[in-house]
Amino acid sequence: MVISSLKETGEYRRMTDMTQPKMIRDATTANAVKTGEPVVAGNKTVGNVRCANPFMVAENINVYYGDNHAIKDVTLEFAKNQVIALIGPSGCGKSTFLRCLNRMNDSIDSARVTGTITLDGQDIYSKDLDPVALRARVGMVFQKPNPFPKSIYDNVAYGPRIHGLANDRAELDDIVHTSLERAGLLKEVKDRLDEPGTGLSGGQQQRLCIARTIAVNPEVILMDEPCSALDPIATARIEDLMDELSENYAIVIVTHSMQQAARVSRRVAYFHLGHLIEVDDTDKIFTNPQHKLTDDYVTGRIG
Ligand SMILES: Nc1ncnc2c1ncn2[C@@H]1O[C@H](COP(=O)(O)OP(=O)(O)OP(=O)(O)O)[C@@H](O)[C@H]1O
Ligand SMILES: [Mg+2]
Repeated sequence: MVISSLKETGEYRRMTDMTQPKMIRDATTANAVKTGEPVVAGNKTVGNVRCANPFMVAENINVYYGDNHAIKDVTLEFAKNQVIALIGPSGCGKSTFLRCLNRMNDSIDSARVTGTITLDGQDIYSKDLDPVALRARVGMVFQKPNPFPKSIYDNVAYGPRIHGLANDRAELDDIVHTSLERAGLLKEVKDRLDEPGTGLSGGQQQRLCIARTIAVNPEVILMDEPCSALDPIATARIEDLMDELSENYAIVIVTHSMQQAARVSRRVAYFHLGHLIEVDDTDKIFTNPQHKLTDDYVTGRIG
């Protein structure tokens, strides 16, 4: 949907990566005509951090690693059934912010998080909330596929087992098969479920990790550059999958690829030096951003 609107307007400029599918290259030819000039400067977030029916809400988030103030007063809402892409130059805080959303920063000794994050109205930093249970509800897929050194079956069964989601082997089998099917991997692995997950190709391993994540019925899926280690074909498969998964989950993806952000997301959030600079619908960010820094980034002047 985003692509076709970009294609119609032809306004999307910095897209010259020849590894991208032809349709994307056509959609993103250079010399585009912009509809307006960015007028805003400064560090205050522009655009719209709110969304209809927010499911997860991050308010006034600050993250410090010792003296390094890595995330600066960021407020952002997330909706179900929607993909939002976090973009910005290296070191701007995308991963740090993403990790706040399922308390992965808890495991970094120097990290301190302030502000509030709610999931379906519940404070995720509440002392009553078990971070392991939270991470089942807010699953994460990492840049480098990280299957456990276990069989394909046991990788997917791991979460359902520790969370007691199956009453017997038949139910567990069913969860494993369904998760692999939804991750688009079942056909390729159904005859070798006992083989090690680490023996799969990179793209297959990433789909296995997605199957492992969805096996526990999460409500939100966080993805930190999930395709950066994959070839264009494996990337396309994961992107198709994201599209399907967004029918059931809220998906937050960090990506360095603006083509990917354009292909998969409804909204884009642009970060710069720990500030959330601009949030808006994806086509608006790429065709007519309000902030000078966003414009500089999407047109390739910074980053
Ligand atoms: N575990 C950590 N301990 C200390 N400082 C950290 C840690 N992780 C990140 N930082 C610092 O926080 C800031 C933001 O880093 P972060 O990894 O979130 O950026 P990023 O936008 O994800 O970058 P990239 O695109 O390179 O992945 C940087 O200054 C970084 O040095
Ligand atoms: Mg990162």
